[in-house]
Amino acid sequence: MHFTGLKSVGESWQQAAQYLDNNVGGTACLVAAMERASVQRLVFSSSATVYGQPDAVPISESAPLRTTNSYGRSKLLCEDILRELQMADSRWQVALLRYFNPVGAHTSGLIGEKPTGVPNNLMPYITQVAAGQHPFLRVFGDDYPTVDGTGVRDYIHVMDLAKGHLAALHYLEREGKGIAVNLGTGSGVSVLQLAAAFTQATGIAIAHQILARRQGDVASCYAATDLALNALAWRAQLSIEAMCADAWRWEQSVRNL
Ligand code: UFG
Repeated sequence: MHFTGLKSVGESWQQAAQYLDNNVGGTACLVAAMERASVQRLVFSSSATVYGQPDAVPISESAPLRTTNSYGRSKLLCEDILRELQMADSRWQVALLRYFNPVGAHTSGLIGEKPTGVPNNLMPYITQVAAGQHPFLRVFGDDYPTVDGTGVRDYIHVMDLAKGHLAALHYLEREGKGIAVNLGTGSGVSVLQLAAAFTQATGIAIAHQILARRQGDVASCYAATDLALNALAWRAQLSIEAMCADAWRWEQSVRNL
């Protein structure tokens, strides 16, 4: 896939500029505001997208950093800014948290994310199929070198992710230095496996059709989790069924709002 540095073929310059403005510009503004307030400790939401097309899975934090789209590029630029800031000024301590695929919602069904328009991501699309908003799940490719040919990802419950942030904050306080660390479960789950887990958790069948691969998708992406366990004393605990049940509860609450 072509990637010119800031945007990939198929992305608009407007979209690339929006990611740069929001993520990179926003991070630079935040750092300046934190400096003014004499606050130099930051937990940053980075993404597994900074690993681009991985050479091997599970992906460890020492894997090469590279990106395949403007979103990834913007996250990597933020990481670069924050890494250089720490090298230049020892008062700064930053935890770069590389999220894998956050899904689910607060178990109360009261806090979650409501995507605008048709969701790009798999879990919200599945919950909308379950709610009858789409006739079937569009599976983007079944010819990847994976367990069943569909894309494999490391889905992590947002509540586990939240606990990972607390663990990172404690690390910064305890160690007095920054860290770049994966937040994932370490388990790869395919598109069809996630749809099956959703049915298992909710009793609702998810019809699907196989479509062509989506441009820019990687076959398989899941985390090495030993650094998170050793450094943060954190590991993800919630199951794929819990992620599905909570995502579905949230979808139903949103519909009743
Ligand atoms: N997929 C489908 N149908 C859909 C949506 C997704 O088959 O309707 C497939 C994709 O092809 C992929 C898997 O489901 O194999 C997961 O796709 P997502 O869009 O949910 O997640 P991605 O891993 O592609 O991307 C996500 C975030 C990015 C982030 C990246 C980090 O959306 O912002 O994880 O690795 F950068």
